[in-house]
Amino acid sequence: MITIKVPATSANIGPGFDSLGIALQTYLTLEIHEETAEWVVEHTMGVAIPHDATHFIVATARQLAPDLTPHRLVVKSDIPLARGLGSSSSALLAGLAMANELANLQLTADDLLTYATKLEGHPDNVAPALFGGGVAAYFDGQHVYHAPIHFPDNLQFVTYIPDTQLLTAAARAALPAQLDFKTTVAAGAIGNTLIAALNANDFETAKHLIEADKFHESARQHLVPHLAQIRTLAHDLGIVGTYLSGAGPTVITVAPAQAAQKLLTALKAAGLPGTCQQLQLDTTGLTIQKED
Ligand code: HSE
Repeated sequence: MITIKVPATSANIGPGFDSLGIALQTYLTLEIHEETAEWVVEHTMGVAIPHDATHFIVATARQLAPDLTPHRLVVKSDIPLARGLGSSSSALLAGLAMANELANLQLTADDLLTYATKLEGHPDNVAPALFGGGVAAYFDGQHVYHAPIHFPDNLQFVTYIPDTQLLTAAARAALPAQLDFKTTVAAGAIGNTLIAALNANDFETAKHLIEADKFHESARQHLVPHLAQIRTLAHDLGIVGTYLSGAGPTVITVAPAQAAQKLLTALKAAGLPGTCQQLQLDTTGLTIQKED
């Protein structure tokens, strides 16, 4: 059996729109069992998700290797769908990694990243899902340039996952068609300084920049009113570092352990519809384990 495990991811981290992301310790697991006459995908993700070759993971794998021999697969995932935690990127990478293994394509991690980014359109979920930790990445249409971002060790990611989905397409439709030059320069400076502050282990500076995005959050505010609500709740506790995870609707606050626990308690007491949990950074990324 081959087991492919892919972490959840959170993109943007505030000002890093379409370029910054982190991997989190919540996973999609794909088990590849025996060969079968037709593809069989066992899962408990609901009736809307197919059990045959039309399953997204199989279809993705077959895009890369069309003649792949069918197998029985078992898919388990703790990553909620359409919540801004990279569920589609994790499934996409699981499919590509499966094709790479079963067809012995010998593709490198960079090859998989380029292929996955071409399918996704941007690398901010797929890069951290593949490599783990924090990643900054830029796709020029051909090549993905990427580098790790350091996150101070004691940070926790307080995560509010609403009960309702928000499709990325809807969240992207809310974005402005243009930004003026001055705003764009400021938005870029904020992202650059955030990365430098994190790499310098200076979370005191970084936390303010996480909340200073000028690319996307204000345009999406009407879709995610709980973002402002959680930010205010955190500020009332003296905690700064809240952002919209990917295209939303999940909201994450980055905070040292003690503050994170305080915020989690307050969030649960606020009774927002959904799940509140503390997540840690995954530093490993996609893993493949082989057993006889
Ligand atoms: N950077 C993307 C966005 C993440 O915010 O739309 C979603 O895939």
